[in-house]
Amino acid sequence: MIVTFTPNPALDITYAVPFVALGETHRVASVSERAGGKGLNVAAVLTSMGCRSVAVAPVGEMDLDLFASDLGARRVPHRLVPSPCPTRRSVAVVEASGRVTLLNEPGIGQSQRVWDRVADEIEALAPEASTLTVSGSFPPGTAPDLVRRVTRLAHEAGLRVVLDVSGAPLSRALAMRPDLVKPNRVEAAQTLTGLGRGEVPSVPGAARALVAAGARAAIISDGTNGLVLVHDDVALRAHLPRPLSGNPTGAGDALTASLAADLDGDGDLPEGPEAWASVLRRGVAWSAAAVLQPVAGAVDPADVSRLLPTVEIEEIRL
Ligand SMILES: Nc1ncnc2c1ncn2[C@@H]1O[C@H](COP(=O)(O)OP(=O)(O)OP(=O)(O)O)[C@@H](O)[C@H]1O
Ligand SMILES: [Mg+2]
Repeated sequence: MIVTFTPNPALDITYAVPFVALGETHRVASVSERAGGKGLNVAAVLTSMGCRSVAVAPVGEMDLDLFASDLGARRVPHRLVPSPCPTRRSVAVVEASGRVTLLNEPGIGQSQRVWDRVADEIEALAPEASTLTVSGSFPPGTAPDLVRRVTRLAHEAGLRVVLDVSGAPLSRALAMRPDLVKPNRVEAAQTLTGLGRGEVPSVPGAARALVAAGARAAIISDGTNGLVLVHDDVALRAHLPRPLSGNPTGAGDALTASLAADLDGDGDLPEGPEAWASVLRRGVAWSAAAVLQPVAGAVDPADVSRLLPTVEIEEIRL
């Protein structure tokens, strides 16, 4: 079983309007509200693929019913930690042309009590779990040591840890030897710049630098170019022969879900290029399948099966 932790979930609000005229007043044609957040997407993708997970997130007391009923309707198991701070809103204004304008609130810092309860939930789930994922941003003012704390807690409970975080939270957590880190290309570069590593030469170079800084293995996703893995002396690139057109938001979350699913069970990280190639094939297939879905947090297993045999893998010389 996989525990997914979302430190900064959002209530995703979508407004449909015929068109946006800046500075004008608009009548909204339809509104939808949905429980959003990267770790919730990871858990929802795991549900789509028939894998067991539990999503843990702090959620504003006034938003709890909406989150619980939306996640329940999508059959995403969850343990929501009530917080006195309202959950941030992420507003998408969708025009008839298909153009989307996003307005993302940063979130409100949580009290230490709320983080303590989050840690308690993760600890309570640990005996049944094999892997913890931590995904996305942190509310402003969050102590950068929060990821270190949950990584240590998870390791002490015998869980593997997959981090899809970036910047200070990632650079601070690297010393805790997370089992796998999965930033995208831009996030990896920002993290390494923050670590004072100077100019990052290439995606494989960035993955190697994250491993040198403490990650046991690093996978850097690179959108339509697929992904790069570095673990010990294995360095691989995996991609589709041609990118798909669709909705790439949440493709990285589907990749994280696939990696966590591969670590689920008793085993450790894969060893050697062949074992990693199987993992990366699934990672590319799951994440590409997510591109074919209109919303983040879903994949169709039939798309995954169709895409799997098309994934191309190459060894990289570092
Ligand atoms: N257009 C595409 N066609 C096929 N596969 C794609 C495409 N875009 C992304 N992918 C797959 O999804 C993976 C993750 O994409 P990306 O690097 O954009 O993640 P991300 O920026 O973390 O996304 P998010 O945070 O929104 O989930 C890529 O490594 C690739 O395998
Ligand atoms: Mg991402």
